[in-house]
Amino acid sequence: MHMRWLRRGLPVAVLAPLLASCSLQGPQSVFSPAGSIAQGQLDLFMWTWYLSIPVMVVVFGILIYVVFKFRQRKGDKLPEQSHGNPMVEVVLVIVPVIIIVLVAVPTIRSVFATQSHVVPTGDDVVVNVVGHQWWWSFEYPDLGITTANELHVPVGKRVILHLNSADVVHAFWVPRLAGKVDLIPNQDNQLWFDTNDDSVGIYPGQCAELCLGAHAYMRFRVVVSEQADYDTWVTAFQKPMVQTVSSDPLITQGRQLVATKGCLGCHNIGNYTQGMTYGGDSPDLTNFGLRHTVAAGVLDATPENVAAWIADPQSVKSGNLMPTLWEANDPNRDQETAAIAAFLLSLGVQDSNSALAQASTGGN
Ligand code: CUA
Repeated sequence: MHMRWLRRGLPVAVLAPLLASCSLQGPQSVFSPAGSIAQGQLDLFMWTWYLSIPVMVVVFGILIYVVFKFRQRKGDKLPEQSHGNPMVEVVLVIVPVIIIVLVAVPTIRSVFATQSHVVPTGDDVVVNVVGHQWWWSFEYPDLGITTANELHVPVGKRVILHLNSADVVHAFWVPRLAGKVDLIPNQDNQLWFDTNDDSVGIYPGQCAELCLGAHAYMRFRVVVSEQADYDTWVTAFQKPMVQTVSSDPLITQGRQLVATKGCLGCHNIGNYTQGMTYGGDSPDLTNFGLRHTVAAGVLDATPENVAAWIADPQSVKSGNLMPTLWEANDPNRDQETAAIAAFLLSLGVQDSNSALAQASTGGN
């Protein structure tokens, strides 16, 4: 009984997750490209794949034919031995050379099309990307905007990324748009991509180079918006909103706590930390309330998740540089982290009952 269950159940148990991972439409599937770079990479892959099918059919066909036709039978003696066949050898050289040329020409063409440095025109979106253990910084030098872990781009436009690293080697990869290109300290690597006109949406990406500790959690989002929505996002960052007096006492409390607890020692919050010196190399929290995720794409940015992340960062993402500011048994921990979460999630979000500090010029 048990054996029968095992014989039937085991293949299903093994095959089911394998087949489940075969979807061509997943959020990180290279088989559903949303831009010309990703499309070009897919086309190259498919061309190589189709070329390999006749090779496989011929090689395996001959192999199977020979194995069955010439297998040793009872009484068979060692057949007559010969050495060398010029005809076969010439064919075995020429055919692979033709196949290699057929693969190499489109590959080289694709490498030059995708890897060459492009000179930005006024219409392009230029972003300086810096990889950190284990999060991403996105700076728009033309717009005076810095954000973290969420790259916003207008649909249809070309996006030019300058890739650098603050520590070790990382790799930028958004499977449905472009990748992978390494981020190497002090080396200006470049990557560009564009999006199809109907590709508005959110595209998950992640670090694709083992960078120790929380590498697997070094995720990010590319948010592709209509031009008008992108412009709204840009404006929100150029005049970041911080609620100075809120109708919600939790937000007011959180606003004080980020200063007294030391958060601002490392994090910049546009239009709140103006004039303050801060430690710098930490995710910029300007307009945090407009983000979809927290902890570099690991958790959805809900009040509960943000509070849990602040309360015990190491349990969410082991090895990250966020300090643990409360003892686990601190009676104030839950209340204070909820207040800080409420304040952070209010950043960039309009509250009709609040007084807003709104800068007239760039807020970073
Ligand atoms: Cu950064 Cu892996």
